[in-house]
Amino acid sequence: MTVAVRPAGGDDAAAIARVQVATWRTAYAGIFPEAYLGNLNDIRIAAGWSASIARPAHVTLVAEDAGLPREPVVGFAHAGPGEGTGEAAGEVEVFTLYVLPGHQRRGIGRLLLARTAAVLAPDHSRLVIRVLVENGPARAFYERLGGAVGAVRRLHVGGRAVEEIAYHWPDLPRLSATLAGAAP
Ligand SMILES: CC(C)(COP(=O)(O)OP(=O)(O)OC[C@H]1O[C@@H](n2cnc3c(N)ncnc32)[C@H](O)[C@@H]1OP(=O)(O)O)[C@@H](O)C(=O)NCCC(=O)NCCS
Repeated sequence: MTVAVRPAGGDDAAAIARVQVATWRTAYAGIFPEAYLGNLNDIRIAAGWSASIARPAHVTLVAEDAGLPREPVVGFAHAGPGEGTGEAAGEVEVFTLYVLPGHQRRGIGRLLLARTAAVLAPDHSRLVIRVLVENGPARAFYERLGGAVGAVRRLHVGGRAVEEIAYHWPDLPRLSATLAGAAP
């Protein structure tokens, strides 16, 4: 398996939506309502990604598997300035990090996070990633990468109240250096 990571362009919106929908349906089965997951609309989600990819100060990277020429995108990451200002200035947030179910546990998530951190570290001091409390595998991934547990907040998705927990890396340049050393 040869996986390469590159910045996303506008043409990648449909592929990113495809990865997002397939990954959500697996990762969030039993967490979000079945009808909500079943009704996810690739075309509408792709339109949202076209706008997100073009946002200034945001970073979107895709991971491509060279062995899949027809649909090479198998993962992506999207990051941007954190929601806070003032005390949170200098903080950047990874909003989404998804790897297709059949490609997980092969180092692609770590590689995407390594490249994202490398792009962001020169201009940001700290990183936060929020994940559903119920998403045990993703929490294990962030804890393996040294994330420090932060606050829990409640939100509503698909008509269901869920809780999200923050993971913090207070020294983004250090995380970037660590991941660069560990990247395949
Ligand atoms: C979470 C996710 C991004 C991780 O990407 P990945 O490519 O599968 O992870 P990696 O192979 O880079 O894993 C790196 C390390 O993290 C840990 N890890 C990853 N997935 C894990 C799991 N399911 N359970 C326990 N530890 C895990 C392991 O220590 C792993 O190293 P190892 O395989 O050598 O033991 C990916 O599994 C995914 O997209 N999941 C579904 C969507 C999701 O939950 N995204 C995050 C929402 S914020």
